[in-house]
Amino acid sequence: MTEAVATANANVALAKYWGKRDESLNLPYTGSISITLAGLTTTARVRFGAARVIDRIIMSGREAEGLEAQRVSAFLDLVRQRAGEEPRAEVEVASNFPVAAGLASSASTFAALALAASRALGLSLSPLELSVLARRGSGSAARSIFGGYVEWQPGQASDGSDSYAVQLAPAQHWPLGIVAAITDPGRKRVGSREGMAQGLKRSPFFPAWLQSHDADLEAIRQAVLARDLATAGLVAESNCLKMHAVSLASSPPLLYWNPTTVAVIQRVHQLREEGTQAYFTIDAGPQVKIICPLAERDAVAAAIRRVPGVHDVLLSEPGDEARVVESE
Ligand code: PMV
Repeated sequence: MTEAVATANANVALAKYWGKRDESLNLPYTGSISITLAGLTTTARVRFGAARVIDRIIMSGREAEGLEAQRVSAFLDLVRQRAGEEPRAEVEVASNFPVAAGLASSASTFAALALAASRALGLSLSPLELSVLARRGSGSAARSIFGGYVEWQPGQASDGSDSYAVQLAPAQHWPLGIVAAITDPGRKRVGSREGMAQGLKRSPFFPAWLQSHDADLEAIRQAVLARDLATAGLVAESNCLKMHAVSLASSPPLLYWNPTTVAVIQRVHQLREEGTQAYFTIDAGPQVKIICPLAERDAVAAAIRRVPGVHDVLLSEPGDEARVVESE
């Protein structure tokens, strides 16, 4: 029996990944830049070699079925192929934050699984190899292998071997505060996979998204390195709105927001008018993530908590890389 337990944090992208040039390998059209989120953590325990004929997968305390189970088993197959071994596994995955609600639980899930499964089969992969592997489970998981400020380079190779993330700067480089406003604790209706496919095939705005994305990436990369919150924040807001515009303009249209999402956006703008440096971004769901100076995080969280319709706020800051916490 070989077993390993690994943890990985969620991440939030300031310049988004939206659109796959290869759907089966999760290869993006563009680069993306994210912050790894301290305290929004997924733990994966993987045990190989049990006398089983199929994988047993427990996600958030219940047995995974159907597509969810297939997705994890297909991911484990990649690790088994690499190790040249075929044992089935028992897998337990648990996150300490709401899953599948646009808080990047797939990113932390597949980053933690990549590390736990490879270690449990005796593989010792480099961070770049882990990033390539995690990407196969969920694109944004490529970034959750690293801590701090992370850039996923899209790569050019058709096999995806050069499509991995690298660290731009460690967490201590820039102590920002992050506030996640939960406007709907339920599961999202349209996942990022379907959302991207729809935007790519059916949105007239997709070419425009691609055209302006590299300039956003460059601006955010430089702003992160220079700790320039006004630039990083404004470009991140604009990049997020363009991503959502791609979805809004697709046919049928795809709107990830609810009225509270909009109310939080407006409150963030109001906070800025009142002199607080706060900026929003939104992924493939209705939750809003706000970045601000760490010293202002509690005040921002208090203001956002008072917006009618906000269920909860989660506090975070730049966090650490994925790590093995137990192995035998
Ligand atoms: O990793 P996926 O397939 O869940 O896609 C994530 C897409 C966004 O969260 C919307 C953007 C991003 O870069 O994280």
